[in-house]
Amino acid sequence: MLEKTGKISEVREKVREWKKQGLTVGLVPTMGYLHEGHASLVDKAVSMCDRVVVSDFVNPTQFGPNEDLESYPRDFAHDCELLEAHGASLVFHPEVEEMYEEDAATFVEIQNDMPRQLCGQTRPIHFRGVCTVVSKLFNIVTPDYAFFGQKDAQQLAIIRKMVRDMSYGIEIVGCPIVREEDGLAKSSRNTYLSPEERQAALCLWRAVRLGEKLVAEGVTSAKEVLAQMTAEIEKEPLAKIDYVSAVSNHDMMPVDEIKEDTLVAMAVYIGKTRLIDNFII
Ligand code: PAF
Repeated sequence: MLEKTGKISEVREKVREWKKQGLTVGLVPTMGYLHEGHASLVDKAVSMCDRVVVSDFVNPTQFGPNEDLESYPRDFAHDCELLEAHGASLVFHPEVEEMYEEDAATFVEIQNDMPRQLCGQTRPIHFRGVCTVVSKLFNIVTPDYAFFGQKDAQQLAIIRKMVRDMSYGIEIVGCPIVREEDGLAKSSRNTYLSPEERQAALCLWRAVRLGEKLVAEGVTSAKEVLAQMTAEIEKEPLAKIDYVSAVSNHDMMPVDEIKEDTLVAMAVYIGKTRLIDNFII
């Protein structure tokens, strides 16, 4: 039976009870509008932990001034149905005021180039907001394990670094990208796409497959792989590339040679909607 609360104190009380009973706790942080990608994180958490807390909070500090904070899709009733069906124990759905007091002035930020690469080039405050809210969620829930999707590969690498740097005793579990039948990576933002844009968005998946094929054939030059992927995306008139890059999956710094642990990642606007996808060697 799924329990629901918007109060930090109630989450703390619940987790304290569970820990007293010797139960392990998993956390799946989300911004709601849940789909099968989130469900796969919950399934993994349920398979590894005795109790699973899912946070459902559209975090304002990770959105830039001209981004989609207001229009970000929300459907808490549907989220609860999905979480109940997948065996989550508790959903934490706070108001903004519960998470950020009016005079909140503390941020958690990685002070090297990692958050400035890839998505950080056009979303300069994004990862500061992500690290701050995830850090708060870790302090509130005190989980043994936390689960993040590989689709947000830079976010996952940054969270792993934050956990190491800040000595959080939490194991971070990365979970594979979940795709629609035709290959488009699942995302809450896919709902912004018109039918024509939805078709156009498949250029990301075509680029991923092309990149994977070239690497499997033995091409190791990042320049060559990225050029061919870029050309593939540019065939689509509705697509506008933000970036297509090859970086080390460890620190997000660009690489010339594609080899083990290289992340090949892209962000592409389809109309006004910015979509991301990637693959890792
Ligand atoms: O990946 C997301 O949905 C968000 O960035 C996260 C991790 C829930 C933080 O708000």
